[in-house]
Amino acid sequence: MPVAPPVGARRGRGLFASVATPLLDAFTEPHGPDRYLEMLNPTWSTREVRAEIVEARHEAPDTVTLFARPNRAWQGFSAGQHVQLTVDIGGVRRSRCYSIVASEHDCSDRLEFTVHVEPDGLVSNHLQRLARGTVVGLSQAQGPFTVPSPRPERVVLISGGSGITPAMSIARTLRDEGRAASVTFLHYARSPTDVAYSEELDALAASGVRVLRSYTRESGGELSGRFCADHLAGIIDAPAWVSGPATLVEAVREHWSAAGREAELTVEHFTPPAPAVVPDDGAPTGEVSFGARSAPNSGAPLLEQAEAAGLELPYGCRRGICFSCTQRKTSGTVRHRNSGALSTEPDSDIQLCVTVPIGDVTIDL
Ligand SMILES: Cc1cc2nc3c(=O)[nH]c(=O)nc-3n(C[C@H](O)[C@H](O)[C@H](O)COP(=O)(O)OP(=O)(O)OC[C@H]3O[C@@H](n4cnc5c(N)ncnc54)[C@H](O)[C@@H]3O)c2cc1C
Ligand code: FES
Repeated sequence: MPVAPPVGARRGRGLFASVATPLLDAFTEPHGPDRYLEMLNPTWSTREVRAEIVEARHEAPDTVTLFARPNRAWQGFSAGQHVQLTVDIGGVRRSRCYSIVASEHDCSDRLEFTVHVEPDGLVSNHLQRLARGTVVGLSQAQGPFTVPSPRPERVVLISGGSGITPAMSIARTLRDEGRAASVTFLHYARSPTDVAYSEELDALAASGVRVLRSYTRESGGELSGRFCADHLAGIIDAPAWVSGPATLVEAVREHWSAAGREAELTVEHFTPPAPAVVPDDGAPTGEVSFGARSAPNSGAPLLEQAEAAGLELPYGCRRGICFSCTQRKTSGTVRHRNSGALSTEPDSDIQLCVTVPIGDVTIDL
């Protein structure tokens, strides 16, 4: 396998790739070069990011940490971003979002992911059993859960449960930049044994990060119980990044909002917020058009309607949290299934998985 580049370095396509790829395409029509390359090695691809699982650590019964070596199509990441990881389960490709845990300055050729195994969770249970050498699909790194450069003077990270993963990537990155003392890291878990990266949190604290752990079912942390205003004593005047379950994210958002500082809060939902009560729009009418393809509006979310029309569009969570299904609506009205909000503006970007057309809608593909 060709040697992969360092995982953290952001890079574009080299001159050789931009010249060689069209030539390869021409020689390997109609299947394209990847069909032939993957016969030699399943990670070889000129365009798709694929990664080989090189290590799986089971440090807690409901958690698996995977180390994956991406191929040369990988373009690097910013701390806090996630990928869509795709696996084949029973012949069906399933994708879910997973945050990269590594520092942006990691010079190794391995990406690290920590997956909390959900009871009855399809993909997380599959990942727990992945054997070394398995090849998985990855998207390029994505998501706005990143810390701008130049870095803010102070940074507050707040995470709950498996939401520790992007916060850990940011904390590791700022530590590697010599900015450990600028970081306050609040982490919420049920008990000390439920904390992934427990030893590393101690190491971060020793390096100068202010680490505050709070357990919701046991004592023993620097703080105690669920997130509340007291936990923020003296630190609310800094920009904050919060990741984890919707209940924690919403509680934190209320506090930043009450302080009139919501603009300084960046959120990453791992689970969708509670849906709003959405008015009934009556029987579906009109037609939905996806590029050249049209079909009668069935009243289902646009992503499902596109798939029913035979289109294969990108998606990740299918629950309105990752934005990977976003497409441009050129005309028509849609309702957001979670918030109930209407979008009537032409030429606006909408999430197909959670928007339902009301009457005629055109999506530009
Ligand atoms: C931006 C982003 C980053 C993320 N990063 C991470 C990360 O770093 N680590 C991580 O662990 N997760 C992360 N997630 C969450 C992850 O994408 C998946 O949602 C999670 O792993 C669950 O996927 P699954 O296929 O195992 O569960 P699914 O099969 O999708 O099930 C989802 C939930 O429904 C429940 N469920 C499933 N079937 C049933 C049933 N029949 N009856 C009742 N309940 C049921 C499951 O218990 C589970 O809680 C992230 C999510 C986002 C959006
Ligand atoms: S697929 Fe994640 S927002 Fe639509």
